[in-house]
Formats: sequence, structure tokens, C-alpha cells
Amino acid sequence: MKNVVILISGRGSNMQAIVEARLPEVRIAAVLSNRPDAAGLAWAQARGIETAALNHKDFDSREAFDRAMMPLIDGYRPDLVVLAGFMRILTPAFCTHYEGRLMNIHPSLLPAFPGLHTHERALAAGCRVAGCTIHFVTAELDCGPVIAQGAVPVLDGDTADDLAARVLAVEHKLYPQAVADFAAGRLKIRQNRVTGSLPPDAGAQLLA
Ligand code: GRF
Repeated sequence: MKNVVILISGRGSNMQAIVEARLPEVRIAAVLSNRPDAAGLAWAQARGIETAALNHKDFDSREAFDRAMMPLIDGYRPDLVVLAGFMRILTPAFCTHYEGRLMNIHPSLLPAFPGLHTHERALAAGCRVAGCTIHFVTAELDCGPVIAQGAVPVLDGDTADDLAARVLAVEHKLYPQAVADFAAGRLKIRQNRVTGSLPPDAGAQLLA
């Protein structure tokens, strides 16, 4: 059994997808947030999952917030820390502390469009495909070895919201699979390349 701690800042739909996947080798040890009012916290709490919030506004600096987050997270003895819409830029010390066991999901096909407003930027650039990326986190924002990517078409007349919804549906399939791949010990990082990840829903297909 692998202990997984999930960090969220908002609705937590990716967190919900991971929880609802009921991955066989995964125990969701806690859902934590930098926003006490994050809707996803109440959802997790209602399902008997441990939750806690540490308000980043109570800290003077990014470093001080991250320094307080680490012992909170480590109290749950995580094998894996999953960022699921955790809207904080992390300090190098935090990234180093969780090196190789910290995952993020980003709503673009990295290395295109790191940072915010990815769907607006994909539309403005005239992209014909968009998507999402799950990657191990390194100190550089939205970089780090790629675990999985999913692509969707950009359709004529799409708004950023249309595209976000199409990408989000893929996120919800890819993220549980990536966590399952990690928990099963399949993922190997060699330099910047990750091997061993299975296509989304591979577990379900194997069981079917
Ligand atoms: C997702 O689009 C994710 O890729 C990005 O933030 C959004 C979080 O959504 N990092 P949710 O909170 O998981 O619903």
C-alpha cells in the first residue's frame, strides 16, 4: 500500500477522480489545501478522508509557507505527493525534498504553455490540438519528466471554457492511471524520460 497525499486549491475534480478510481495499491492519506475554503476539502472530508488547510496568506514568504507545509505533509508519511490544481509556485527546497515522488497535472501539452491561462493561449496561437500533461515536479515551473500526456482536438468556435472542459475529461482519466503506475512501481525516471506508464484506464481494461 502506498500513502498518497493530495494537494488542492479549489474544486478538486482531479482529486475526486483519483479517490473514486479506488486504486488497489493506494491509500489516500490526506487531502491538504492552501485555501481553507477549497470546495474539494469538504468533498474529501465527507468521505472520511483526513483533510487540513494551511492558509498561505498567514505566511510572510513563499519559503515560510513551504517550510510549514513539509512537516504537515510528512506527518502522513507520503510515498507520493500529488498536486491536483494546487495553485502555488513551489520553492526549490520543497521540490528537492519530494524529488521523484511529487507529481503535477498541467492543462497544456508541455513544453507548450507553461504557467496560467493555457487554454486561452492555445486558442490565440491557433493550435489544432490541446491537452494536458502529468509530470514529476522539478524546481523549474511546469517542467520535469513527463509521465503522461493526453491530446484533444481544438474545434472551430471553441471558447476557452469549451476547451478546458474537453481537456479536463482527459485529465480525469490520465491522473488516476499515473498514480496507479507510480504505486505499482512501474515508473522509472532516466534523465528527463519516464518509462513504464500505461495508457489511461489500463487497470480497468485488465480487470474487464
Ligand atoms: C486542472 O485543469 C489542472 O490541470 C490544473 O488546475 C485544474 C484543477 O482542476 N492544474 P481541479 O481542481 O482538479 O478540478
